[in-house]
Amino acid sequence: MKGVIFRALEQLVVDKLGMAAWNNLLQHHGLAEQVYISPKSYPDQELMSLVGGISEALAIPADQVVKMFGEYLFGYLANRHCAIMNQFVNFQELIFGIDAVIHKEVIKLYHEPNLPAIRVEQGSQGELNVFYASKRQLCWCAEGLIVGAAKYFNTRISLQHPECMHQGASECRIVVKVEDNG
Ligand code: HEM
Ligand code: ZN
Repeated sequence: MKGVIFRALEQLVVDKLGMAAWNNLLQHHGLAEQVYISPKSYPDQELMSLVGGISEALAIPADQVVKMFGEYLFGYLANRHCAIMNQFVNFQELIFGIDAVIHKEVIKLYHEPNLPAIRVEQGSQGELNVFYASKRQLCWCAEGLIVGAAKYFNTRISLQHPECMHQGASECRIVVKVEDNG
């Protein structure tokens, strides 16, 4: 996982709980003095441990922590990659462009990023089916990122997650319904 992801997590924790809480968290997971550098990669397991620590500290289940983080991460990445964001005029366009536009650019900007496989299909009722697969199984992060994208475009959505890798599916299906296009 790229350092940029850890830096976003650090900023979220520092914003919500303060610098001491972040340092405590690092210390408790044997990562004292760790400085995450955006373009470098760090073990996925470090992210999972830190999420576990935040989940304990806030008494919130880990899946909710990951989702909350995903929402925050969207704003963090969007701010840093305006040139990518400017290619989209609305929420739907962005969702259809996650793989072919956004993550394709990410491959050019970062050295060997670990990205999920994402494809999007329009459903019969106008809903979007976002199919997610990754050995990191961060589908809750994907949910949060989608929520963050909707907020970015002032679009009201509802989400369902009827098929999930955490329940043995080979890929997750996240169903996104646009309720109000802002
Ligand atoms: C990684 C999904 C938008 C850049 C990821 C991951 C997920 C994800 C779930 C975690 C890795 C994994 O699951 O295997 C999405 C979704 C998006 C979105 C659903 C929109 C709704 C963006 C945007 C950017 C971006 C706007 C930046 C312009 C990245 C980067 C990584 C990443 C840098 C980390 C790669 C690494 O750690 O090696 N994305 N993403 N994503 N994404 Fe996206
Ligand atoms: Zn899932």
